[in-house]
Amino acid sequence: MKTLITYQSKTGFTKKYAEWISSELNAELKEIKDINDFDINDYDLIIHGGWIMGGMINGFNKIKKLKPKRLIVFAVGCTPKEKVNISQIVNVNNLGDIPFFYYQGGMNPKKMGFIGRTIVKMVTKEKPIFKDTTNKENIKGLVIMAKKIQ
Ligand SMILES: Cc1cc2nc3c(=O)[nH]c(=O)nc-3n(C[C@H](O)[C@H](O)[C@H](O)COP(=O)(O)O)c2cc1C
Repeated sequence: MKTLITYQSKTGFTKKYAEWISSELNAELKEIKDINDFDINDYDLIIHGGWIMGGMINGFNKIKKLKPKRLIVFAVGCTPKEKVNISQIVNVNNLGDIPFFYYQGGMNPKKMGFIGRTIVKMVTKEKPIFKDTTNKENIKGLVIMAKKIQ
């Protein structure tokens, strides 16, 4: 059973979760831009993590198109989990019955770029400031699920 963790991260929070998951499962880790058809066919389980932009999970469509044998998805946004409408994310991204986990990441204005900062400022009506709300505890459920498959 071979597992690959793929991720798309702009400011580093999704990468951090992907690295934690990869080390817990002793599985390979690749950034989405380095993935191709050949890679996907080589693995029995793909776990993809993408940062959320306007409700969309980055990189998910690319992974879905490559038709992995089994897929688990996690998304990372700045919104606290209790305020997130999970079924809305599932619907908007067409996740269907793919297992899905949401984690709170953080905010890193310096790495968001001018356009990113402007959009976040418009949506939240606040000036974005740095905060890291990642927590390794969050990955427990996904790790248990992946270990059952492995
Ligand atoms: C343009 C833009 C749109 C965003 N949209 C959302 C969103 O819809 N929901 C959310 O929770 N966070 C949103 N965020 C916040 C990021 O998802 C959050 O900062 C995340 O932790 C970034 O992950 P990364 O460090 O892996 O890039 C948005 C950020 C930017 C720059």
